Amino acid sequence: MTTNSAPADPAGNQTTALRTHLCGVLRATDEGARVTVCGWVARRREHGEHLAFLDLRDHSGVIQCVIDNKVDVRSEWVIAITGTVRRRPAGTVNPGLATGEVEVGECTVEVLNEADAPPFSVDDRDESDEPVRLRYRYVDLRRPRMQRNLRLRARVNAAIRSAMDRQGFCEVETPLLWAPTPEGSREFSVPSRLHHGSFYALPQSPQLAKQLLMVGGFDRYYQIARCLRDEDLRADRQFEFSQLDMEMSFASQDDVMACVSEGVLDAAEAATGERPPPITRMTWADALNRFGTDKPDLRFEMELVDLSTEFAHTEVRAFSGSHVKALRVPEGGSFSRSRIDSLVEQAKRAGAAGLAWFRVTAGDAAGDAAGTGAGTQPLGLDSPLDRFLSETERAAVLEKTGAKEGDLLLAVSDTHRIACSVLGTLRATLGSPPVGQGPHHYVWVVDFPMFDGVDAAGNPQAAHHPFTMPYAEDLPLLDTDPFAVRSQAYDLVLNGWELGSGSVRIHRRDIQSRIFATLGITSEEAESRFGFLLNAFRYGAPPHAGFAYGIDRLAAILAGEENIREVIAYPKTQSGADPLTGAPSPLPARALVELGIRTVGPPPDTRPAPPPT
Ligand code: AMO
Repeated sequence: MTTNSAPADPAGNQTTALRTHLCGVLRATDEGARVTVCGWVARRREHGEHLAFLDLRDHSGVIQCVIDNKVDVRSEWVIAITGTVRRRPAGTVNPGLATGEVEVGECTVEVLNEADAPPFSVDDRDESDEPVRLRYRYVDLRRPRMQRNLRLRARVNAAIRSAMDRQGFCEVETPLLWAPTPEGSREFSVPSRLHHGSFYALPQSPQLAKQLLMVGGFDRYYQIARCLRDEDLRADRQFEFSQLDMEMSFASQDDVMACVSEGVLDAAEAATGERPPPITRMTWADALNRFGTDKPDLRFEMELVDLSTEFAHTEVRAFSGSHVKALRVPEGGSFSRSRIDSLVEQAKRAGAAGLAWFRVTAGDAAGDAAGTGAGTQPLGLDSPLDRFLSETERAAVLEKTGAKEGDLLLAVSDTHRIACSVLGTLRATLGSPPVGQGPHHYVWVVDFPMFDGVDAAGNPQAAHHPFTMPYAEDLPLLDTDPFAVRSQAYDLVLNGWELGSGSVRIHRRDIQSRIFATLGITSEEAESRFGFLLNAFRYGAPPHAGFAYGIDRLAAILAGEENIREVIAYPKTQSGADPLTGAPSPLPARALVELGIRTVGPPPDTRPAPPPT
């Protein structure tokens, strides 16, 4: 990307009282025009005492201005230049710059504001430390990358709004000061000045508020909602983020998926100029079985292979688990022993007892190699485990995995869930390109299980949230085999990231009570946590279903970024700090008194650094 791409902004010259043109829009067709451009000094080159070339930058790009009188301006000063557009002399055209055929000459320069030397250069090539970039975010935001990313995000938002409006959804804002919501993360609490000892919760999502809107008759609701979750930060997680949140009454899973797809595909088209194909579906069971995860990255193949039948009667202890799954790593045979050892460690951390590995070799001329491979040459396996395999097992491993000479085969024997998920983790480590790179592969994952894992008391835990409707035909299993109950929950996945989640909701009290009972939530507890929702459901709750997807995640991938911080104007660092403002910061004693709060905080030297002066 050059630093001076054509303006993404369709609003033309953006003429104002101070300027006639944006810097980046000037072309040879403007030759002879008298213009005033405003911006920041990107670069200054002197040619003798009375000739200087100034590159002037605004968000649309850079224009070269030729100054032939003495002028004192420095990097990042804010100036206005009035001059005449002219073609650059032959041999000085810069094809790497959108304005590279022209320059502004006969200039007068007005300094609008002087500036200190910037803490880093306003250039995409500058790889300054992130804390420094965030501390001076206002300088960082001038960089073409940040300009491009935030403007792309704005186009994504606009496209989503327009798609939702077009489909008859009504935008409703819900409160930020609210009660706990059931998304399962830690919440941010806000102390009440008027009710000492009581707290609001900042919403993890508008989940309950939107369900109440359905009772209120807003049967197609949406909102670009700020959500807050006090969870550990990662590349795809911030404390604060935005969701496209939506809910529909009298609607099915298919209706929701169709309306959401429309917005997501419109947003993708607005951001990239290309409309992705219709989004395909995959069941949760299929995703786990083939890709070892409910967030399959479909940009590459490396599907898991099931060897359970082949090893059903094995003598090999390492393969005696109820399921055996394998993964072929093309050309992984060249991995060093220490790299393989680190994969074994990763498999153990992901929950496996061990990881079997085999290098696929050319086989032995003496004929002890059993495989056939795709060609005529027999293949062999190089592995400490190889000598324990029977001839038929060795042949099955080679055949079913489609092994080729030079590959590495990995296998895990365990419960189905563990065998799949461990190899799914390794598949992602070994095969996934960075999330924002390559093609964009959207996929709906449907038919999630209703429950996933158990809590400390041994009760099943809701895989989505407790208001998700099970499939009617699976209801009898609630009492006999709750983990076999499928829910009408669905996720949207993009390049291995969960973009969004949703479900058909329970609107009937009898089913809700059965789910609470299975989750081990007593009626008293349900009453105290969600009483206002359950109460509302007595007053005419329509059947309803909904969804929410993360705009930060969508915008990051569409912008080709690997961390959502790059599409957020003022993100927090990994440790949750804001180097720009110094937040979080201690409150003065009198504010604590007013809020009725006494702290038992950390000693002052472990507090975040104060904001810069
Ligand atoms: P869920 O909790 O799956 O569902 O969240 C939906 C989407 O929100 C985004 N997201 C985040 N993005 C950035 N930082 C975070 N910390 C973060 N947490 C979540 C993800 C995620 O897929 N109320 C339900 C939706 C519903 O059922 O309608 C909900 O919030 O992209």
